[in-house]
Amino acid sequence: MADKLVIGNWKMNGRLATSQVLLEALSVSCAGGVQVAVAPPLAYLAAVSSVLAGGSMMLAAQDVSAFAVDGAYTGEVSAAMLADLGCRYVLIGHSERRQYFAEDNDLLLRKLQAVIAAGMVPVYCVGETLQQREAGIGIYQRVIGEQLAVLGALAGKEYVVAYEPIWAIGTGRVASIGQIDEVHQYIRDTLLQCHGASATIRVLYGGSVKADNADAIFSLKSVGGALVGGASLDANGFGQICQAAKKTV
Ligand code: 13P
Repeated sequence: MADKLVIGNWKMNGRLATSQVLLEALSVSCAGGVQVAVAPPLAYLAAVSSVLAGGSMMLAAQDVSAFAVDGAYTGEVSAAMLADLGCRYVLIGHSERRQYFAEDNDLLLRKLQAVIAAGMVPVYCVGETLQQREAGIGIYQRVIGEQLAVLGALAGKEYVVAYEPIWAIGTGRVASIGQIDEVHQYIRDTLLQCHGASATIRVLYGGSVKADNADAIFSLKSVGGALVGGASLDANGFGQICQAAKKTV
């Protein structure tokens, strides 16, 4: 089994001082043997980058501009700028971006391509609403399949997929092991069909991952790691999730 990757998505939380305290604690609780990244708010990327410099914890960004070339795009931050700050991963198409900022497949493909062109690895998020889940397997697989379709243009490029059922994000309602495995297999099969059987596909699970459910989630072969929201703001809890990931390596 390949090393698991654990990414902490801080979303729009914290302040400069709390970020520093959290990072100090994480450097102890997440130490060694597992791939860990943190995605702080954009405003703190540079500060976090200098704290992480020289260590094994990696830097991720929560979003990026679809404009790849510098220019008159007020408020935007380009992929090249994120790479310049030392980012290794960039989240693309998180459900909160799709929901609150109406990001669609065309825009997301431009972001994916910008991130890859800048030498970083996009983490492309997919997932269904509760209503789509309850409508049955044919419906939610179609929704996820449509979200995955943009990845067809990325054959041979390195990217990661994160499956985040919207009904499990921040709700404490984690998907069951069977539900996670079924969708992860579906994502793998869809992408292998698209890129060919020799492609390497890594699928992270996200949605109320906590210290007390991480062991069971990581025990699945189809799970390549976790994208953690709320629990990544607590050094102890995030540390335990990282240790759980380490056990399965
Ligand atoms: P929670 O872990 O808070 O459910 O958030 C998941 C998520 O959206 C990570 O990107």
